[in-house]
Amino acid sequence: MSGATNDLVLGIDFGTSNSAAALIDSTGTLQIVPLDGARSEMPTAVFFNQETHNVQYGSAAMQAYLSGTEGRLLRSLKSLLGSSLMDEYTNVGEHSLRYFDIVVLFFKELKRRSEAHAGQVLTHAMLGRPVHFVDDNPARDTLAQETLGRAATQAGFTHIAYQLEPIAAALDYEQRVDAETVALVVDIGGGTSDFTTIRLNPARSRQTDRSGDILATTGVHIGGTDFDRLLDLSTVMPHLGYRHIGTGNRPVPNSVFLDLSTWHLIHQAYTRKAMHFAKELWTDYTDQTLHQRLMAALEGQYGHRLLAEVEAAKIACSISGEDSAVQLDFLDDNSAPSVTAEGMQTALQDAVAQVVRCAQECVARSGLAQVDVVYLTGGSSALRPLVAALQAAMPQATLVTGNLFGGVAAGLAYAGSCQDLS
Ligand SMILES: Nc1ncnc2c1ncn2[C@@H]1O[C@H](COP(=O)(O)OP(=O)(O)OP(=O)(O)O)[C@@H](O)[C@H]1O
Ligand SMILES: [Mg+2]
Repeated sequence: MSGATNDLVLGIDFGTSNSAAALIDSTGTLQIVPLDGARSEMPTAVFFNQETHNVQYGSAAMQAYLSGTEGRLLRSLKSLLGSSLMDEYTNVGEHSLRYFDIVVLFFKELKRRSEAHAGQVLTHAMLGRPVHFVDDNPARDTLAQETLGRAATQAGFTHIAYQLEPIAAALDYEQRVDAETVALVVDIGGGTSDFTTIRLNPARSRQTDRSGDILATTGVHIGGTDFDRLLDLSTVMPHLGYRHIGTGNRPVPNSVFLDLSTWHLIHQAYTRKAMHFAKELWTDYTDQTLHQRLMAALEGQYGHRLLAEVEAAKIACSISGEDSAVQLDFLDDNSAPSVTAEGMQTALQDAVAQVVRCAQECVARSGLAQVDVVYLTGGSSALRPLVAALQAAMPQATLVTGNLFGGVAAGLAYAGSCQDLS
């Protein structure tokens, strides 16, 4: 059976933070699947609810978890692909599952929702993959792609192909281009920033092999979750004692704040040993209100919630350019930190500079002095200081904002519609 004739091909962008899906329907029209209610982006999250004994996905999973429902949340599953953790079992309530099985569950749900939208069974998938799943380790990188494919197969897809995420983003942009254009495709998501310098031309958009048009690719493991951590440290953690100059004119030890503001380390802050250590820190503080707030955050296990509030304020401030309050009323009524344009600029400047250097490197490696267009996709490509820094670094290029969340999936759907899937 061929993807080019009658089987619809679902383009699947399995992201670190969000996933999206799209297809070209039988009339040749692009449809980005509303995967999560009306939204195209579905948080890549699975929640094993121990109160209802249900499994929840996407924003329902996030809401249940953040509102304090008893259960186990899994996120960032993409970063586990290619690691030996995939075959390990993890406790999800009454029973254990392999991480791999959880990825399969997520794919099954994504397939089910896409089929409900399409009104038909979907068996063909074009899977997106980052330029590097794993840096500097080709064997693990290959394993990551193979694991992704195996998960999709177990979820019921019988015909599978792969395309690089930035190329998919470029293919989506190419639909809007009417002449030969050299673009730097910028895809900045939750976990990574990927860059591709690519020659675009609508006359070649149906060619299966576009490798001749790809002039360079670069990538760096910096994304929205790093921005959240840096903003958490600069705006919220000082209210819990981070950088507080306490007794003996010494700062309070900082490991607990670093754990609390890093998504995958938060659980370490709640261990008995870490809690005991934190409790004893009171002697290091001269302002006990700060220590009480730290203990309230640890005892209430509010680390993820704090980060989620910081992320919401980051997005609001990035969209409006105005100060945006971080809602901490669940913790304490007396502290009201906000994310400000200036604070964001300062806290993120090193990370933003690294991302921009990686973008410049991608243009330099192409051998060209400049590109015509800088095409922005991925949620974090909307981050104000980053957009400003990119424009300043490439003043001659036109900045084009793409579909932040559905662009990669759309490009995968285009790629799938003109290729035979085996
Ligand atoms: N307007 C905005 N300004 C800044 N950041 C934003 C905005 N909207 C979303 N984000 C951030 O974008 C990130 C998610 O982007 P996206 O969904 O593209 O990532 P992903 O595809 O899951 O990740 P990856 O491609 O790295 O696997 C989150 O960190 C989110 O906080
Ligand atoms: Mg992405």
